[in-house]
Amino acid sequence: MKTIVTKSYDEMSKTAADMFETEIGNNPELVLGLATGSTPIGTYKELVRRHIEKGLDFSRTKSFNLDEYVGLSGDNPNSYRHFMNEHLFNHINIEKENTHVPDGLTENPEAYGKKYDQMILESGGIGIQLLGIGSNGHIAFNEPDEELPVETGLVELSEQTVEDNARFFQSVEHVPTQAISMGMGSIMKAEKIIILASGEGKSEVLSELLNRGKVTSRIPATFLLLHPDVTLICDEEAYSGVNR
Ligand code: GLP
Repeated sequence: MKTIVTKSYDEMSKTAADMFETEIGNNPELVLGLATGSTPIGTYKELVRRHIEKGLDFSRTKSFNLDEYVGLSGDNPNSYRHFMNEHLFNHINIEKENTHVPDGLTENPEAYGKKYDQMILESGGIGIQLLGIGSNGHIAFNEPDEELPVETGLVELSEQTVEDNARFFQSVEHVPTQAISMGMGSIMKAEKIIILASGEGKSEVLSELLNRGKVTSRIPATFLLLHPDVTLICDEEAYSGVNR
């Protein structure tokens, strides 16, 4: 895993946006794998700025998001579809029909998950996948457990994640406890992966990830150590526990 440590959150965001810009420049039909959470907001802001000021062109790109809460429709302000529209899609020239976020209202998550993976495959596969990391080491909504899902489907959120994400909801009781999430295999098939981490709150999990040199389903992000093209971009605070 290549690691880039930046002085600040802004520099982290710009570095990630640089990589997106380069990859889209190399392949205007790039398939983007996108993430939600507070961490990638700065990257999306920077991509929007580059679209407006420099004409960064998304017109031929497609996108697939990692996950969505079960029970939330796309127009619910807490849904990840809404998040993506607000932070990125409404401000760039990507065709809305080429943006995919799992359907939180699907009645058959298993069949839906298979269809989602199939759509990714048929689009040519994800060229660049953006990830955040949960404080417990989850990626997308693949939570620490004895076993991890390979394919996209229904997952249960851990107590830790429900607590972490309660800040976006009215109260902890309003946080959905299930999600449709891309599986570990679906993520690992991406050609290139960028993982972002910012702030003191991520320092413990980053030290676990980088100091360990082993994979464990207790920290799903460690599976990224097996991928040939992963770049971790993190600020100094997030990196502060590494090598201690
Ligand atoms: C959520 C998302 C993840 C994200 C993580 C970290 O639960 N499902 O994709 O990486 O939380 O979020 P944040 O960036 O807000 O710390």
